[in-house]
Amino acid sequence: MRLQATLLVLASCVPSAFAIYPDEVNHVDFHHALLGVPSSHSTFFLKPSPSSNASLLYTLSEQSLLGAINPRDGTLIWRQNVSRSSLPGDHGILRASDGANAVVSAVGDYVSSWSALDGKLIWENWFEGEAVTDLELLELEDATAAASSAKDTIALFGGKAGVVRRFDGDSGEVKWEYKDDSNDLPFQVSSSATEVFYISLQSALLKGNKIKVTSLDTLNGRQNHHVVLNSESDVSGPESVLFVGANTASPLIVWADKANKSLKVNVIGTKQVSTLNIENTSGEEIQSITVHTAKKLNSLPHFLVHYETASGSWAEVYHVDLKSAVASKAYSLPFLQSWSVFATSNVDANVYFTRITESELTIVSSASHGILGRWPLPATLSERGVHAVSEVVTKGDTVAVRSAALLESGDWKLIRNGQIEWTRYEALFGALAATWAEADDQEDLAHQLEVEGHESLIKAYVHRVNRHVHDLQYLPDWLKELPTRVLTSLVTDEVSNLDGFGIHKSVIVATENGRVYALDSSNHGTVAWSVKAAEADSWDVKSIITRPGSATVYLDDGSSVTLNTTSGAILDRAAATTQVRSIAFINDDGTPLAIGIKPNGAPMDSVDRPGFFVTQSDDGRVLGWSAKNSKSPVWDFAPVPGQKIIHATTRPSHDPVASIGKVLGNRSVLYKYLNRSLVLVTAVGDNTASFYLLDGISGKILHVSTQEGVDTTQPIASAMSENWFAYSFWGDATDPSDAKGYQLVVSELYESSIPNDRGPLDSAANYSSIDTLPLPHVVSQSFIIPEAISHMAVTQTRQGITTRQLLCTLPASNSLVGIPRQVLDPRRPFGRDATAAEAEEGLFKYSPFLEFDGKWYLSHTRDVAGIRSVISTPTLLESTSLIFAYGGDIFATRATPSQSFDILGKEFSKMQLLLTIVALGVGVAILSPMTRKKRVNQIWKATS
Ligand SMILES: *[C@@H]1O[C@H](CO)[C@@H](O)[C@H](O)[C@H]1NC(C)=O
Ligand SMILES: *[C@@H]1O[C@H](CO)[C@@H](O)[C@H](O)[C@H]1NC(C)=O
Ligand SMILES: *[C@@H]1O[C@H](CO)[C@@H](O)[C@H](O)[C@H]1NC(C)=O
Ligand SMILES: *[C@@H]1O[C@H](CO)[C@@H](O)[C@H](O)[C@H]1NC(C)=O
Ligand SMILES: *[C@@H]1O[C@H](CO)[C@@H](O)[C@H](O)[C@H]1NC(C)=O
Repeated sequence: MRLQATLLVLASCVPSAFAIYPDEVNHVDFHHALLGVPSSHSTFFLKPSPSSNASLLYTLSEQSLLGAINPRDGTLIWRQNVSRSSLPGDHGILRASDGANAVVSAVGDYVSSWSALDGKLIWENWFEGEAVTDLELLELEDATAAASSAKDTIALFGGKAGVVRRFDGDSGEVKWEYKDDSNDLPFQVSSSATEVFYISLQSALLKGNKIKVTSLDTLNGRQNHHVVLNSESDVSGPESVLFVGANTASPLIVWADKANKSLKVNVIGTKQVSTLNIENTSGEEIQSITVHTAKKLNSLPHFLVHYETASGSWAEVYHVDLKSAVASKAYSLPFLQSWSVFATSNVDANVYFTRITESELTIVSSASHGILGRWPLPATLSERGVHAVSEVVTKGDTVAVRSAALLESGDWKLIRNGQIEWTRYEALFGALAATWAEADDQEDLAHQLEVEGHESLIKAYVHRVNRHVHDLQYLPDWLKELPTRVLTSLVTDEVSNLDGFGIHKSVIVATENGRVYALDSSNHGTVAWSVKAAEADSWDVKSIITRPGSATVYLDDGSSVTLNTTSGAILDRAAATTQVRSIAFINDDGTPLAIGIKPNGAPMDSVDRPGFFVTQSDDGRVLGWSAKNSKSPVWDFAPVPGQKIIHATTRPSHDPVASIGKVLGNRSVLYKYLNRSLVLVTAVGDNTASFYLLDGISGKILHVSTQEGVDTTQPIASAMSENWFAYSFWGDATDPSDAKGYQLVVSELYESSIPNDRGPLDSAANYSSIDTLPLPHVVSQSFIIPEAISHMAVTQTRQGITTRQLLCTLPASNSLVGIPRQVLDPRRPFGRDATAAEAEEGLFKYSPFLEFDGKWYLSHTRDVAGIRSVISTPTLLESTSLIFAYGGDIFATRATPSQSFDILGKEFSKMQLLLTIVALGVGVAILSPMTRKKRVNQIWKATS
């Protein structure tokens, strides 16, 4: 009985075998799905569905990404890249109407309509060479339009002559178009409930511009009548007009006189211009004037004008009398010595203005100046605000407001009743450079170990004893902490806590707007700090190099900024010298040294260091240099005439080789061709691509492979590691020979084709690289892959024992795959099954088509968009490699190409193990007297 009870206790301690694995997504990786900086006129709250009051936050970013954000938590609901225009660099426009479930965008010559709920395309249209200058949704009173679910769109195209087109809301068909044959400058469109207005600027006889308003029939686009406003003394060009538009009941044109003494307001369609005096409240020069109006159909005809001076800002609220079309001042909001951003919101017809300053958020009704709500802001809003959108809810006398404010840093914050709910770091979109920070302490130990590795045996022993003696000083503290450590390790899930293994390094990222971010990888990539490091608004970062405790950002003008990686404090700045093309980094003897490379490929200065480096020059050559001589290159390489170099890659700086040979099934060895200074150069011609393998020290060409029928407009990527390299392109396949497709070619380099033979290197242990460099034996195989690869990298681990993965960025499916090296083995048997000996090596039958296995997708089902670069770094765990992808979104994960053989799984429970041991102990304690008694009894029985 007692035995049974003990067994039961034991059984309850054994883990319920193979319980469901906790999902590792979000645990080992993080993803910032970004949109880019939201643009001021194309960001709004919108209720996408007429049946619900829930609204989403929509934006068309400056990078032409259109997306919807959940205002509760800031997550991305959907996004679309609407940069499909053939015209360069046009800012987009986004318009929508509450409850209509369609958002219409125009970027350049591309107009498209998207479902607001799920981001599906409704219609799209291109007008080659005609850029859209303005877009409005028609809010008509006529019955035909109301019956249709989607609102029609009117757009103004400004080519040589202005063209106004009306698009059907459901199909995108052009219902009519109006062409302006005069020489006026097409400017804007606007609409009232009954008319469409085309606004153009007519140059006046002497100077300045008259504003011309042409009224068009909504049904057929014919011109009804036109009005010319005498604005020539004030308006010198489109930038002089402050505002056109607003709600359809009273669409307005607003401009100011040249001295900013008065504001001119015209209700579109009328001839009348109200002149309103601008009071010189602050006694300072006005730097900017912004008009904020309510956009909703039936809202009150009230508007707010925001005046900004160098030290602060104030606002005036004006009302328009609909009958007389006269605008008059209602009240003003006081001048404050702070930046302000204003946002307009509607509740039914009522209009509310939200004002955000650096210290507080206030809300007023457009009808009177009484403050309805005031919330102090937390101190974190230290950056200047750029723009904001707000949504107001009223209940009796109380109001609640949530505002999405964009700060100068690119942070997009949602403030709900004064509380910051979430922040999206949109400036991280399109990051220029990134690298892992080096922790102070670990690096020190690694350095010490390295020293021990290089010393003689006795010296290393003495060094080690000294190190341990030195460590003894920390013993009392360590002992003091021990009880708490034991306790916490029992209570917490210690197994998943790998902090001590270099898994949770933070990543330093430099962004286009001159900022540097530290992302905390132990905490889902949250921003640990972000600082403005550039002195200008933007910068061109060539490289970031980290040393223990600090990170240095190198710029194109030869200057650099060094930051503390823990706090983000700027430690040092180096002044600009000359233009640099790239940064070479020499790190042979532990003291890293960065050398700027000039546009002609020459290093800025020589250093008294051994070492070679390879550079590219602007005139399309690859040059090899000795660090000691910056005057002339040791060698230079140019591809055959007609080809130009597009890429050059080397082995990663940390690329340990665990074994110098490959053991074959029959126990013979194929020796790897290992050369630290290999360079793989990609050059393209009209429809060829050549891959040159060079020796970096002598410049000798070791191997060339030329591919025909290559589409050089498609991505061509390459990577190299150990004794192999890979590249991909779109072109003719060698097998099956008539096919064209995306190809991935893998080549391995061996010293000789014969096992156990070291080729010419065998006898020449001390060969000189320059004279007698033998050529490698190259084994290649090519695979047809389903889609293009835009970037390649190789996983890195500490010792290089773990098999590597080829990390490929797939731009078409917005994902990142890690292809295991075994699959890409060029020695896979061709046209037959593997023999037993080959199978032992892990080889299996070659198949020309390489489908990407679902298990290889490091990004899982995530949409990791716009990745331009992927970097990898080893951790202290041999099994694990860290991966960070940037350039569009930010994505980071860990790869364990050979499984995590040196970590206990997450399902391993220390508590259960301990309980099992305790239970076993108890069992033994209970059972041993029983057995002893039984044995004694047996002896008695036997003897009696
Ligand atoms: C939406 O809000 C209005 C007033 O704020 C309310 O009358 C209506 O019932 C709400 N509708 C839904 C579906 O919640
Ligand atoms: C306001 O007054 C200041 C100082 O007198 C002057 O410099 C500025 O130009 C004035 N601004 C306007 C808009 O009149
Ligand atoms: C008037 O305001 C505009 C901004 O709308 C500003 O650029 C300009 O410098 C101001 N002019 C004067 C004379 O203050
Ligand atoms: C970096 O900042 C941390 C925290 O403020 C500080 O402890 C450390 O000494 C600083 N490191 C350097 C190199 O200044
Ligand atoms: C959007 O698509 C265009 C054209 O395909 C591409 O050039 C651009 O980089 C994409 N933008 C982003 C942000 O991914």
